[in-house]
Amino acid sequence: MAGLLERYRKYFPITDDTPIETLGEGETPLVKLNKIGSELGVELYGKYEGANPTGSFKDRGMVLAMAKAAEGGAKAVICASTGNTSASAAAYAARFGLKCYVLLPAGKVALGKLSQALVYGAKVIAIRGNFDRALELARKASSEMGLAIVNSVNPYRLWGQRSGAWEVCDELGVSPDWMVLPVGNAGNITAYWTGFVQYKNEGKIKKVPQMVGIQAQGASPLVSGESFPNPETVATAIRIGHPVNGKKAAWAVRMSGGFFSAVSDEEILLAQKELASKEGVFAEPASCAPLAGLKKAKREGKLPEGIKVVMVLTGNGLKDPQVILSGQEEICEIDGDESQLREVLSQ
Ligand code: F0G
Repeated sequence: MAGLLERYRKYFPITDDTPIETLGEGETPLVKLNKIGSELGVELYGKYEGANPTGSFKDRGMVLAMAKAAEGGAKAVICASTGNTSASAAAYAARFGLKCYVLLPAGKVALGKLSQALVYGAKVIAIRGNFDRALELARKASSEMGLAIVNSVNPYRLWGQRSGAWEVCDELGVSPDWMVLPVGNAGNITAYWTGFVQYKNEGKIKKVPQMVGIQAQGASPLVSGESFPNPETVATAIRIGHPVNGKKAAWAVRMSGGFFSAVSDEEILLAQKELASKEGVFAEPASCAPLAGLKKAKREGKLPEGIKVVMVLTGNGLKDPQVILSGQEEICEIDGDESQLREVLSQ
């Protein structure tokens, strides 16, 4: 199995000394979403990043960041995370034989992600504070104690994540008209933009897409232009009030002629349900913000008819089962009895 590092070797800063490892990251499905697409009047695709080895897009950047950390002689890595980065860092640290410390906002990380960080053997430190504070602490610890930081302030992380954009173009043969992503710390949207620009400069695509960034209303600093000291949203992955890559992302979105938009938690959960029940695609809440954003754009008359739209479905729905189980879903319980079953099935 050739991993991302081998597949895109010529586009990555890989040397003869870079250790090459893979867990099978990348080459995720680009799923055509016919039903929802026709309701919106566009050709719609979801890049299903939940199919990555640790269930999110973070693996694309982590494999390169970890390889470069190992090449540089690091013995340990550190990151702050709303959950997915920690799961990915913990897995790849195990793979490359490095020690891993993760700083998480206490009580605000989805269960699946927390259990991943633990089982891969990371040292998990819960911070009584939000992600933004955890990242400040991680950056300080990294510079004072010589730990390699593997958040998206590490340039190799975003470099690896460009591969998502390359795969979309390789598969479609063109770039989409709109590329829609959920935005938290604003790294991924920046990485995709750089990936598209690089492919255009290589002559692989003729034009770059308009970049559309969707935030949760309770954590939407790039929509309002002001940081959120107390971000809050059901989409805990993007519960971030002061994105470190905010300036770069704002620039990318402006250059591309795209925009940022905010959606409510209700709209996010509705989009999650719709994606799963109409298309068979289960993505975590943050990943469904783009669909909520597209529906809002449609209502506001901002979504052009017939365009090609790709949403990045950033994380697997199984990461956060509680959000479903604490919702309105009803389970019908009966005795182990045929007549009761017949009654339910005939309703
Ligand atoms: N979607 C998911 C599922 C995420 O986990 C994240 C970020 C994003 C979207 C936003 O990406 O930060 O590049 O704008 N998760 C980080 C983490 C913050 O710690 O796992 P971004």
